[in-house]
Amino acid sequence: MPYLNPDVVYVPSAAIRRAAREFPTPFFLYDEKRLRRNCRIFREAFSKYFSSFEPLYAVKANANPAILKIIFSEGFGADASSEAEAWITRRLGGRGMYTGNYTTASEFRFVRKTGRFLLNLDDISMLPTVKKNGVPEFLSFRVNPGIGKGGMKSLFLAGPEAKYGVPPWDIVSAYRLAARMGVRRFGMHAMTGSNVLDEEYFSQVAMKMLEIAASLKSRAGIELERINIGGGFGVPYRPGEKNLDLDKAARGVRKAFDGQCRKFGLKEPILMAEPGRFISANMGWLVGTVHVIKRGYKVFAGIDAGMNDLPRPAIYDAYHHVSVLGKSRAGRRERVSVVGRLCENNDQFAKDRLLPAIRVGDLVAIHNAGGHSYAMGHNYNNRLRSAEILLTRQNRLVLIRRPETIADLFRTANIPD
Ligand SMILES: Cc1ncc(COP(=O)(O)O)c(C=O)c1O
Repeated sequence: MPYLNPDVVYVPSAAIRRAAREFPTPFFLYDEKRLRRNCRIFREAFSKYFSSFEPLYAVKANANPAILKIIFSEGFGADASSEAEAWITRRLGGRGMYTGNYTTASEFRFVRKTGRFLLNLDDISMLPTVKKNGVPEFLSFRVNPGIGKGGMKSLFLAGPEAKYGVPPWDIVSAYRLAARMGVRRFGMHAMTGSNVLDEEYFSQVAMKMLEIAASLKSRAGIELERINIGGGFGVPYRPGEKNLDLDKAARGVRKAFDGQCRKFGLKEPILMAEPGRFISANMGWLVGTVHVIKRGYKVFAGIDAGMNDLPRPAIYDAYHHVSVLGKSRAGRRERVSVVGRLCENNDQFAKDRLLPAIRVGDLVAIHNAGGHSYAMGHNYNNRLRSAEILLTRQNRLVLIRRPETIADLFRTANIPD
């Protein structure tokens, strides 16, 4: 019997069935217990090794206000990256760090006005805009340290092809210029990987950042108050994959801090991190009903959800585990492609997947649909976004976002005479 990671294959079948009796499909179902568990695992793993650890949650992963409220109540701040993310954070009483990129002047003003965010700049070229709009006491820069040694495939958010971060040759000048403008306290941020399941990676990021911190100290006399190692903490999507060992990752970062601070005589900065996927991905399932079985060149099972609900398979060819509710994998199986209703051939949640024999009327759950799922959704083909339902700790089902209507879709349009 192959290894089946329980975190990947778990599906709250009874709650999903109950939800499907109460609400029309398709919908997202989010499990509050799992969400809180993920928050605690993350916070405790790093707090065990760092007396001053400040976790943020990457709001872009899932910005449903009910979900954010739970995450903030677990001691997380917000990593916000747009005016709307700053707005909802403030509305819910949260605070955190704002990481814009290619940020406009009006965006800076908006974020400054909320009074809730440490500002994290993506380039030296943004300093004149900051100067014009009020110099903050604290400023952080997102650095692009280039591709790390070891050539990890996941390091694609840094290096010459990435649009993010201050390149190495501008880093010292950026901090010097900011200090000259009147900034008094400094931070550094990096986000160089996505869905990383290799624990070593996080200590490598910390090592590199502290090395840069040392050159800032020796060349510009600037000491960092905070270091934010970003997000990118991976979750397994395939049943055979292992979980990221967070204790090992945190221990590695601790070692990097000890070694580099000693080596370069640095005062230990406050550690920050901003996971998105690790917190919210596996607390969610996208649920659809099978309404067509087509036996053509291949077998296609058509469900009422689509790539507009969860675009990851269409965009990245990402794998998501699929369950057919009430049917065991031990029974008769068939190779099928699970597809949506959009007029796009990449509207396929699973291709040629060996699944328990599917019938019209079956409920299908797409796993790991809590993070970067609804949030990446869209209205292509004028398909409507689905509802979001919370399964609370008390086992209640609460509609936390109603499904869109056709009227919602055309609300902002103007039809001239
Ligand atoms: C700046 C920044 N921080 C954090 C995240 C969260 O990443 P993840 O969900 O992989 O942890 C992202 C994701 O795109 C990001 O761009």
